[in-house]
Amino acid sequence: MSGTGAGPAPADRLSHLRPSPIRAIAEGAPADAVPMGLGEPGWDLPAPAAEALASVAGPCAYGPNAGLPELQEAVGAFHGEPAARVLLACGSQGALFALVQAWAGPGDEVLVPDPGFLAYPALARMAGAVPVPYALAPDFSLDPGAFAEALDRAPRARLALVNHPGNPTGAGASREALAAVAAACEARGVLLVSDEVYRDLHLGPRAPGLRDVTAGGVVLGSVSKAWGAPGLRVGWALGAPELLAPARLVHAYMVTAPARTSQLAALALLRASGAVLAEARAHLQVRWEAFSGAWAEAFGAAPAPGAGGFYHWQPLPPGADPMAFCLRLRDEGRVIVVPGHAFGERGRGHVRISYAGDPGRIREGVARLAPFWRTA
Ligand SMILES: Cc1ncc(COP(=O)(O)O)c(C=O)c1O
Repeated sequence: MSGTGAGPAPADRLSHLRPSPIRAIAEGAPADAVPMGLGEPGWDLPAPAAEALASVAGPCAYGPNAGLPELQEAVGAFHGEPAARVLLACGSQGALFALVQAWAGPGDEVLVPDPGFLAYPALARMAGAVPVPYALAPDFSLDPGAFAEALDRAPRARLALVNHPGNPTGAGASREALAAVAAACEARGVLLVSDEVYRDLHLGPRAPGLRDVTAGGVVLGSVSKAWGAPGLRVGWALGAPELLAPARLVHAYMVTAPARTSQLAALALLRASGAVLAEARAHLQVRWEAFSGAWAEAFGAAPAPGAGGFYHWQPLPPGADPMAFCLRLRDEGRVIVVPGHAFGERGRGHVRISYAGDPGRIREGVARLAPFWRTA
């Protein structure tokens, strides 16, 4: 702690934490702005979860620190892994926090994709570690060469994060790229964490995952995206028990266990995965058709679909100042999108547009934003 004599001061390791530009965009938006910045499904909570929540009865106990054994079993069964290789957490974000705290400390380095989910560098810094951004391929998929280059520049790397399909780009990772990155991490003794929370939300074929190439490393999943339940705050990590054990301790000291009612609802969702995921993909398809149809009408050509998730990664008009452009789009165009530099310096030339919301509003949003590209 470094005090100024003027009262308590926050811990030094938080000194690099900044509010995200997403907040600056969302705050002060016109009341009728179309929200295309959202990173969550806009459809209703699937019925099995709603029914499970409605039927909660009896004492609302803490339950085991590790979470409900039935839910561990169900998550394991979905992924074809034993329950002992499942860590249940308060969202995949809870698992991420616990893993980063457990495996990286002051002065250590954590490899993060750039552009990438904005929590990654923040979580590294909160552990006192240094985030080391690595570049992606020109199409924003995982590039093992760029990853290896960053790893070479990071002699104190302890942990590496990959995310595919990616937030904010929607781009995936090939089996070959995953195998090369996994081998590079193994050779260096770096823990590889593969964030696959968008993997079951796809328009075309399901994208490859880390488990297609190795039983090593840790894979993250969540009911927040494909199972349509971000508010339950239930996610998980899958990996060898000895990799998960220190993260279990961190998570238990942080929150004891995920909320029991949420776990019961998540259990109902996992057990109904076949129907719930098929429905989620139908919701996604309807939204994609609204988005790509309106886009084709406005721009004369349909956008290319990503590997999974509900984000379109759009280059800014040439020469546009990212923040000024997004604020003008918000205040004059009445559409909220996220400036790409929120996700890292290499995202500076793009914006993230979400099509997770209401299909009618998506069409309206595209009609409102298109003139800003045409006249830029
Ligand atoms: C790539 C990625 N990982 C993890 C999370 C955290 O999700 P949750 O904690 O809801 O599982 C998000 C949320 O937007 C995300 O985009």
